[in-house]
Amino acid sequence: MSESIRFHFRGAMREVDAAAPLRTVLQYLREDLHCTGTKEGCAEGDCGACTVMVGRLHDGALRLEPVNACIRLLPTLDGKALFTVEDLQQADGTLHPVQQAMVDCHGSQCGFCTPGFVMSLWNLYLQREGQPAPPSRRQVDDALSGNLCRCTGYRPIIAAATRMGELPPVAFDRATVIAALEPLHSDTLRTHALADGYTFFAPRTLSQAIQLRTTHPAATLLAGSTDVGLWFTKQLRVLGDIVYLGEVAGLDAIDSSDTHLQIGATASLEAAYQAICQYYPDELTELWQRFASLPVRNAGTLGGNVANGSPIGDSMPWLIALGADVVLQGSTGTRTLALEDFYLGYQKKDMRPDELVAAVRIPLRQMGQQWRTYKLAKRFDQDISAVCAAFSIRLEGDLITDIRIAYGGMAATPKRASHAEGSLLGQPWNDASLTRAMAALTSDYTPLGDMRASAAYRMKAAQNLLRRFWFETRTDAPLAPAQVNAFAHGDTP
Ligand SMILES: Cc1cc2nc3c(=O)[nH]c(=O)nc-3n(C[C@H](O)[C@H](O)[C@H](O)COP(=O)(O)OP(=O)(O)OC[C@H]3O[C@@H](n4cnc5c(N)ncnc54)[C@H](O)[C@@H]3O)c2cc1C
Ligand code: FES
Ligand code: FES
Repeated sequence: MSESIRFHFRGAMREVDAAAPLRTVLQYLREDLHCTGTKEGCAEGDCGACTVMVGRLHDGALRLEPVNACIRLLPTLDGKALFTVEDLQQADGTLHPVQQAMVDCHGSQCGFCTPGFVMSLWNLYLQREGQPAPPSRRQVDDALSGNLCRCTGYRPIIAAATRMGELPPVAFDRATVIAALEPLHSDTLRTHALADGYTFFAPRTLSQAIQLRTTHPAATLLAGSTDVGLWFTKQLRVLGDIVYLGEVAGLDAIDSSDTHLQIGATASLEAAYQAICQYYPDELTELWQRFASLPVRNAGTLGGNVANGSPIGDSMPWLIALGADVVLQGSTGTRTLALEDFYLGYQKKDMRPDELVAAVRIPLRQMGQQWRTYKLAKRFDQDISAVCAAFSIRLEGDLITDIRIAYGGMAATPKRASHAEGSLLGQPWNDASLTRAMAALTSDYTPLGDMRASAAYRMKAAQNLLRRFWFETRTDAPLAPAQVNAFAHGDTP
């Protein structure tokens, strides 16, 4: 049975009829409702002009997250609340402090990016409700990591992030939104008919999702849509039937034991990295900050990153270096694989048609283990890696008793460097062993050149990142990361 898509919008419940063509939230806002405050810049999650806020109930509380409307499919709003830049102005016409701060600080010029910046600043404003101190520069940078401006420059916008807290506060009425969302909550499978005979399924349980995998093996599995959204907006692919995993109860659970952290497949990248960084703050915080942008991390999932298995994805190298497993759930039960064995070739995975990724299991730090991950990209925020590397080592005295090396951007899949590892195991962790391992990387990888980096650059960078790891972990005179930076750019010590 097909149901309409119901969500809370502009203070009322909005229904979109069944049998509608598949639309992004941005297309729906601009083309169907003519709400043109939300802009389209890139239609691929990069520029932030389309940033909107989505609210959903989570354990009875309202969770509000800025996301990119351009790659968000409309049926995923079912049961949620949508806020756009038009929602901020007060009923008497007074600007919201976020908007007023942008005016006061001259944070807008042509104005095309402004609605997106305002929504990201509004998120920061809400998160800091009741906190008198202004946000730190790092918090502002992270909040704005998904917004690009081509004319104002960022300084006035960053100033607005401080200014907004100095203006008379405006409270957000969460209770009304919660009351509006409660009746939309559903424990049963929701089904929305799409045009051309396709169906959007939103299962509520894992067994419903697996059942749908069996009955609709050709359907597109959808989680945060930060990869799939681009198939739709950029490649104009027809997605066919869709099985949306975002409403499956418990699939976003994050659990820990004495030895492992288990991240459910639909835990958002933001929630997943936040959890993992509690165990590995020194090693992982920078990668977390550099992974896409906050709106992409709010929507995207760790399960989607792993399942997509892009050769330039950022989670896989460090997961493989730590010895993480992927947990697959299918109609006949659960399988657990070492993550490196999950990738069979470019876009080929060891996943049966009835299976899905249910979780990722990450070992907690082992005695004596040292590890690092490094991302090389042209910008700090919101950029895809040219090379991503991760190294894990254990030493007894100066001898290497365990070594795991994995790279992204060097092969058709995220891949371990077995030749380099083999050349190091049992050897002293010194310059001579390191030099042999750097040479062995040419047997492990034949990287490609593309617009992000040439093949020669990738190989040189991969070798130098291994050297950087040595500088930071050598037993005689380890260097602080700041001292190592120069060498990572290719200088020799
Ligand atoms: C602007 C932008 C910046 C980005 N920056 C980065 C970056 O810095 N680093 C990086 O690594 N990635 C980046 N990405 C890619 C993307 O955000 C990640 O790959 C993300 O983790 C995908 O998760 P998702 O939930 O959005 O997956 P979706 O787009 O929903 O799905 C991705 C793929 O995985 C499949 N899938 C999803 N969940 C499951 C499951 N549980 N079981 C089986 N199959 C499943 C889908 O069918 C699809 O094939 C970026 C994307 C954008 C748009
Ligand atoms: S239009 Fe650029 S991020 Fe959506
Ligand atoms: S004000 Fe013109 S792009 Fe930002």
